[in-house]
Amino acid sequence: MTAKIIDGKEIAQALREEWRHRAEKLKDKGILPGLAVIIVGDNPASRVYVRNKIKACHEVGLHSESHDMPEDVSEEMLLKQIEELNHSDKIHGILVQLPLPAHIDDVKVLEAISPDKDVDGFHYYNLGALFTGNMKFPPCTPYGVMCMLDYMNIPLEGKEAVVVGRSNIVGKPMAMLLLEKNATVTICTSRTQDLKSHTSRADILVVATGRPEMITGDMIKEGATVIDVGINRLDDGRLVGDVEFASASEKASYITPVPGGVGPMTIAVLVANTVLSAEKFSGM
Ligand code: GUN
Repeated sequence: MTAKIIDGKEIAQALREEWRHRAEKLKDKGILPGLAVIIVGDNPASRVYVRNKIKACHEVGLHSESHDMPEDVSEEMLLKQIEELNHSDKIHGILVQLPLPAHIDDVKVLEAISPDKDVDGFHYYNLGALFTGNMKFPPCTPYGVMCMLDYMNIPLEGKEAVVVGRSNIVGKPMAMLLLEKNATVTICTSRTQDLKSHTSRADILVVATGRPEMITGDMIKEGATVIDVGINRLDDGRLVGDVEFASASEKASYITPVPGGVGPMTIAVLVANTVLSAEKFSGM
């Protein structure tokens, strides 16, 4: 079998059109949805992500602003900046790009963001809402994956879904969203014994480990849907996912490429959440 490609760029574009339309309705009422992104330090990958987030907002006609803080900024200064943005009428979404430098307590920082402006969905309130089936802001990357599965009409009910990786940003919320759709979900970690015995049962396999090409074709069930959340730069300069694309494509029926798969979806959901937040603020 040669897998069909799930084109994240195309699906993200379709999603953006929908949200552009909703943003225009808000603008007709005099409300311009606004996103503030805070970035601390010079992590090159974070800089690229933030630039893409700001660019996506501009493309949909939203207001966006980037707040750059030096690597040695104090936690107090960062919290003060968040507090200001919590009270700004121009801002409906606040995002603090992770990772933060080691001297800053990221839990404290994420909890300082008003849950009503937490467009990443990382605040405990929003995580609790997600875990109890009352989602307020869909977590960007996992919800982006759900949008891809929906767009491609991939059935989830009663299916075996295996998530490899248990991060708070991707693995855990991903498992919850799949569970909400009545999939039977297994979460695997780097310590899972005989990983292949789990992955090769999966009808839907989502991989978010940060380990380049660790999932190979022999670990995949014939006809599975494979979603690769990873993006890794190899020493030779190539960008690869957590799945070995060539061998996985021989076994899967659907697969996401890297780049051009999950990445654009994360940003599309962030834009959607910012518009959603502005709608809530306006009472729509
Ligand atoms: N760093 C890597 N992914 C993300 C994300 O989705 N949100 C934030 N805030 N930081 C990240």
